[in-house]
Amino acid sequence: MTRYDVRSLLPSDFEDLLRSDREIFGGGDELGPYYVRLCCDFFADTCFVARVDDVVAGYLLSFVKDREAYCTTLAVHPRFQGSRAVMHLLRAFITRIAPDVDACWFTVKEDNHAARALHRTLGAREIGWRRDFYGAGDDRIVSRIDKAAFAALAQRYTRLGLVERTSLAEKRTPALRLVAGNA
Ligand SMILES: CC(C)(COP(=O)(O)OP(=O)(O)OC[C@H]1O[C@@H](n2cnc3c(N)ncnc32)[C@H](O)[C@@H]1OP(=O)(O)O)[C@@H](O)C(=O)NCCC(=O)NCCS
Repeated sequence: MTRYDVRSLLPSDFEDLLRSDREIFGGGDELGPYYVRLCCDFFADTCFVARVDDVVAGYLLSFVKDREAYCTTLAVHPRFQGSRAVMHLLRAFITRIAPDVDACWFTVKEDNHAARALHRTLGAREIGWRRDFYGAGDDRIVSRIDKAAFAALAQRYTRLGLVERTSLAEKRTPALRLVAGNA
């Protein structure tokens, strides 16, 4: 069985994440270096990478605001798709956000059946559309794990003993610590 090392992002993940993004999404800079740098350096608490022998198997990028999480990117490298890497990432994500969050949002393209099915398994409901989201013609379905569904999901993870009861407020990313130390 594959052993995944799943952890919050570090500034040093930047290059690997960009490369992996190109390989997963096929060439174009889907994420873009500015966004990846923000995730690696400033929002690392809620962004995760799964590695196997130092190779990026997948990543999950999210942001938390006002007790709501926005999972902006979830991707598994084709080599590792179907290997449950995604479940390891989701476990790290839910474990980390559960104490701080009541709901979670995703956006997804209509023809992305794998991602839509995955969101459904987490209790998300498709509640609307965003037209021209990343540019003209890029229409996205918006789906949401609402308060009741998120509570049920968090309870499932708590029952399994997976939820770490530490609030985000008690955590600080290495980068933020560094900035504070240099001030
Ligand atoms: C979406 C993605 C993260 C899923 O990861 P994966 O490794 O392919 O998923 P898995 O094979 O482990 O399946 C996990 C669950 O997803 C669903 N799923 C996966 N592939 C599916 C498909 N082709 N059709 C329907 N459901 C599917 C199932 O619910 C499955 O659970 P099950 O195996 O218990 O039935 C991955 O396909 C991916 O990275 N795709 C490219 C990037 C992307 O589109 N990301 C999402 C938008 S940000």
